[in-house]
Amino acid sequence: MTSKLFLFTPGLVVLSAITGFALSNSNQWSEAELATLQSLSLSELEPLAVDPTNAAADDTRAAALGEKLFFDARLSANGAVARATCHQRDKAFRDSIPLGRGVGKTAKRTMPIAATARAPFLFWDGRKDSQWAQALGPLESAVEHGGTRAQYAHAIADHYRTEYESVFEPLPDLSAVPSSAGPAGNEAAVAAWTRLSNVQRIAVTRVFVNIGKAIAAYERRIEFGPSRFDQYVAAVTSGQPGHGILSGEEIAGLRLFIGRANCTQCHNGPLFTNNEFHNTGVPPRPGMPTDDGRLSGATAVLHDEFSCRSQWSDSRERCPELEFLVSRDHALNRAYKVPSLRNVAERAPYMDAGQVATLAAVLDHYNRAPAAAAGHSELWPLGLKARDLHQIEAFLRTLNGPIVVNGHNSTEAVR
Ligand code: HEC
Repeated sequence: MTSKLFLFTPGLVVLSAITGFALSNSNQWSEAELATLQSLSLSELEPLAVDPTNAAADDTRAAALGEKLFFDARLSANGAVARATCHQRDKAFRDSIPLGRGVGKTAKRTMPIAATARAPFLFWDGRKDSQWAQALGPLESAVEHGGTRAQYAHAIADHYRTEYESVFEPLPDLSAVPSSAGPAGNEAAVAAWTRLSNVQRIAVTRVFVNIGKAIAAYERRIEFGPSRFDQYVAAVTSGQPGHGILSGEEIAGLRLFIGRANCTQCHNGPLFTNNEFHNTGVPPRPGMPTDDGRLSGATAVLHDEFSCRSQWSDSRERCPELEFLVSRDHALNRAYKVPSLRNVAERAPYMDAGQVATLAAVLDHYNRAPAAAAGHSELWPLGLKARDLHQIEAFLRTLNGPIVVNGHNSTEAVR
């Protein structure tokens, strides 16, 4: 290491010899710190595991169909809302407004899609346990796509019959199914749904579920690409100085992030999330209905119509995530999913309901650690100075990278 160092920074080595200051590498990271840095690197990401609940998840034809459905506004009540309305390709598959907007206005901020195939639970309160189950929520939500499952089944029969049947089974006969019917629609749609026979309801729901599975086959390919931070880690863990990759301010911010500021308690691993739910005292958005976060989300996922345990899952195995799920625990009150911090600088405003406008304001929140509106915040005041907070913010900006869509043979960068 010393001989390598000598090649790069002879001046520093001489200096350290004079001052007697021991350098483990040119940026003075200890072995333990280097291990932490490595654990945050994208190179540590495991290959994507199969999803036993979705037999079509790794079928390229399903992904091709899912991609078309993702961009198709016919899958909405007014013919104007596609999944791509809120998850825009040029905005890292998000919008940039505080509360998502579909047919109406939602109560939550649109979450990014990249790497969500790796999350055991989806949505801020984790009320869904797979990407395909998640995809179905907004389709039937009155304020997002606002349509009904019968309408979506007809859309598939009218526009995607061949593609659908090449992946899934032959479409059912929908001639006796009204154009709009579903358990979550308006009064007329719900009434029409109750008039259908059980066999018809199951047939329509199966098509609806397969729409979700095709969309998930596409979405699971959307991942984060390497950032400047990852380049830096690759350099310093192989004994190179990493100068010129990150600035001094950014490196100081990284040191605070993994050290005194305690961010890696929750934002850890290559995606900077422990995939858990925590109460961090983020105030509710004024004027919105009260929301207890994971407390309701945990119960909701256990009873979800489309969970891993449901008849619609392709898995006949056990569902460990649900089996060991803790619900009805007070600690879940106003706990929200820990979001990934990759590409975070591109995603203002922040938090579950877009309550916090800027990264600087997010850091101010962590530094003050205000009491929670309900439940208990797990944060404590950090006592950091303005300069420290700027440095952490500078570090967070180094986590920007391309969003990539993995194909079977190629990886397409979309930005
Ligand atoms: C106790 C766990 C915990 C700790 C410690 C923690 N966070 Fe968070 N972080 C969360 C949770 C949970 C959210 C989402 C909260 C919400 O939306 O209500 C979040 C949200 C964020 C966001 C907003 C991301 C987005 O997309 O909206 C940023 C940025 C962030 N954290 C950075 C940090 C930094 C920097 C630190 C260290 C100073 C830190 N966090 C420490 C759990 C934690």
